[in-house]
Amino acid sequence: MMPIIHDIPKAELHLHIEGSLEPELMFALAQRNHVQLPYGSVDEIRSAYQFHNLQSFLDLYYAGMSVLLTEQDFYDLTWAYLQKAASQTVKHTEIFFDPQAHTDRGLAFETVHDGIVRALTDAKTQLGLSSQLIMCFNRHLSPESAMDTLHQALSYKDTIVAVGLDSSELDYPPSLFQAVFEKALEEGFLTVAHAGEEGPPEYIWQAIRLLKVSRIDHGVRCIEDPALVDYLAETQIPLTVCPLSNIKLCVFDRMADHNLKQLLDRGLCVTVNSDDPSYFGGYILENYQAVQSALNLSQADLLQLAQNSFQAAFLDELQKQSYL
Ligand code: ADE
Ligand code: ZN
Repeated sequence: MMPIIHDIPKAELHLHIEGSLEPELMFALAQRNHVQLPYGSVDEIRSAYQFHNLQSFLDLYYAGMSVLLTEQDFYDLTWAYLQKAASQTVKHTEIFFDPQAHTDRGLAFETVHDGIVRALTDAKTQLGLSSQLIMCFNRHLSPESAMDTLHQALSYKDTIVAVGLDSSELDYPPSLFQAVFEKALEEGFLTVAHAGEEGPPEYIWQAIRLLKVSRIDHGVRCIEDPALVDYLAETQIPLTVCPLSNIKLCVFDRMADHNLKQLLDRGLCVTVNSDDPSYFGGYILENYQAVQSALNLSQADLLQLAQNSFQAAFLDELQKQSYL
């Protein structure tokens, strides 16, 4: 391993907090909350994590969340991720959460939000790790449900910096959510969206033009549209790429086939992130290592990726400079 991968300060910008739920914690929370899991052991949970596309993962991802019930559960989940991130020299992290996946099970928005934010606050003081919180709308649910969720978030503008769009991509174009994103922008939220993970380049264009995103989450299918690649290079709209996720969900067959290096060489603002580390077999460090060895990245490439991560973060210029 190149020690620089561990040692360089990094920002993580694409991390679903519910996707950091390790089997051990899932099991412990199931016992604490008297929730029945369809698994008999931690090993059984791990061996169920074999995916052939995004949907096959999402089915287990949403099922796993059934153990999260109290504010303390969300604190414990978030704190575990933050400790791990800090141990890998992550200095700043921007965390997604999926409120609808919890409010649809009867939990209060506040329970989810408060547990996460309490851990983020502790991380700043105890780990020197800064953060932002991004609320995602699930695109398999209706635009009306997204609008309702946005209304609930209006009381939390101090702690939620942006809204995002995640979950099943194919057949759910960004255009469905244009009105919700317009309202979010009016209310002062920044916007991001998953696009071009499984979906076509057209969904990336829609995210840019209709949802006015500051970053594209994934975006790897941009490569199929040369005009889009040119546009991303020119505007420096960042891509939050998640290499291990892309392999686990069969977006690319092998890491050697991943287009991260191509996009980096083309001058795009590419970043490396872990997406759902518990499900995909690695945190940010393992993601950097996997692309470094499969794509033969140089030290300069690695430094560029880390620098991009701060450049692309929702931090002001002064804060960015303090990390670079
Ligand atoms: N939710 C959690 N991980 C996701 C991913 N990789 N794509 C879309 N939605 C998600
Ligand atoms: Zn994601």
